Amino acid sequence: MAVMVAGIHNPLVVSLCLSVLAGLGTYKAIPLVSDVFIAHGRSGKDLLKEGRPVIPESMGAIAGVVYFIVMFVFIPVPFIGWFRDSEYALADFPHNKFAQFLGGLLSLMSMLFLGFADDVLDIRWRVKIWLPLIASMPLLMVYCVTYGGTDVVVPIPLRSLFGQKMLHLGIFYYAFMAALAIFSTNAINILAGVNGVEAGQSLVIALSIAANDFLQLHRNPARAEAHLTSLYFVLPFIGVTLGFLKHNWYPARAFGGDTLCYFAGMIFAVVGILGNFSKTVLLFMVPQIFNFIYSCPQLFHFVECPRHRMPSYNSSTKLLEPTWCSLSKTGKLGRLMIRILRTFRLVHIRRDPKTGEAVQANNLTLMNLLLVKFGPMSEPRLATFVMIVQALCSCLAFLIRYRLVKFVYNE
Ligand code: UD1
Ligand code: MG
Repeated sequence: MAVMVAGIHNPLVVSLCLSVLAGLGTYKAIPLVSDVFIAHGRSGKDLLKEGRPVIPESMGAIAGVVYFIVMFVFIPVPFIGWFRDSEYALADFPHNKFAQFLGGLLSLMSMLFLGFADDVLDIRWRVKIWLPLIASMPLLMVYCVTYGGTDVVVPIPLRSLFGQKMLHLGIFYYAFMAALAIFSTNAINILAGVNGVEAGQSLVIALSIAANDFLQLHRNPARAEAHLTSLYFVLPFIGVTLGFLKHNWYPARAFGGDTLCYFAGMIFAVVGILGNFSKTVLLFMVPQIFNFIYSCPQLFHFVECPRHRMPSYNSSTKLLEPTWCSLSKTGKLGRLMIRILRTFRLVHIRRDPKTGEAVQANNLTLMNLLLVKFGPMSEPRLATFVMIVQALCSCLAFLIRYRLVKFVYNE
């Protein structure tokens, strides 16, 4: 009983309990609103199924709303000591911590709204890529006035180049943080299109961040506050993502839409920036970094980029197969990029049987590459495969962060 009472006074235990409630709330709420979403045109066709059934979309909005309800209820909890003990003076209130909390929530809420706006309005890529920059402004402002550090430790191999251990990045550090927000949101959104893949990758990244936070709480008490804040943001996210994934897994009964992708990406940017461990967050996003770099020839239109690059469904085998883009209008630079990818065996080319000329390449996404390398597979198998790749990359990230870091930073 004493343990239970002590637990109630521990914000982390409260956060854990609220996260379980958030998961259950999301799981229960989605079927209740599905018909309403479809009736109001918030739906999309499941392109990888026979008959392309209509599925309610933008369900990231429901996950987000439940997340905010839980987070708003939680706001006083980390400050409960200050409220309970009357001898605390107003001047002692940890305004910095409070501002970080509110700034993080404001950025997340803006991103949820902008993601929903994108789902409804289908905003053009060249415009929507900048939306996370706007949403990250409150976060960058809070970082500036509460923490403000822009010095980075130079990795050992680069110290001879810079001639010093610490480098003052100033405004460039803010540019890096803004770039992190733009990258993490869009990177989740382009590793998408298969049931369970958007939420599945987000779940593995969030679990990795939480595991790193718990490890750091034990290993590095001086940074405990930062990792606790990260856990307060990430645990309810794990809850709502699990609740959503139950409906989004094959055969999907709900799609997250861009709302979910942007919201998930912003969670990772918020905890990386507020917790000051953005490099570790990037280590957990290696599959997204690979998928983004791999996609660049198509994203920047050196190679044709169709509206959908997801795999295709073969109704006779009931398996997913890679999709292809035409190389007929590809210029010299685009062909050079394809040739480089081919050197590393990262692209499959289809040639004209008569002339031998390269006419098609697989669409440049991680999922198409997995299908090219391992052959056609079912939709749930591909989603599981992506989650396994994500989890293996997280294991590698932990190895780099905790075993190999001394070779790079001498810590
Ligand atoms: C991004 C990708 C696009 C991919 C799409 C799939 C880039 C540049 N863009 O575009 O290649 O095809 O995501 O989400 O890489 N859908 C399914 N099954 C799912 C999830 C989504 O069929 O499990 C379909 C539905 O028709 C849904 C649509 O994808 O309506 C959502 O696409 P949208 O999020 O609008 O695409 P983008 O984010 O623009
Ligand atoms: Mg999308």
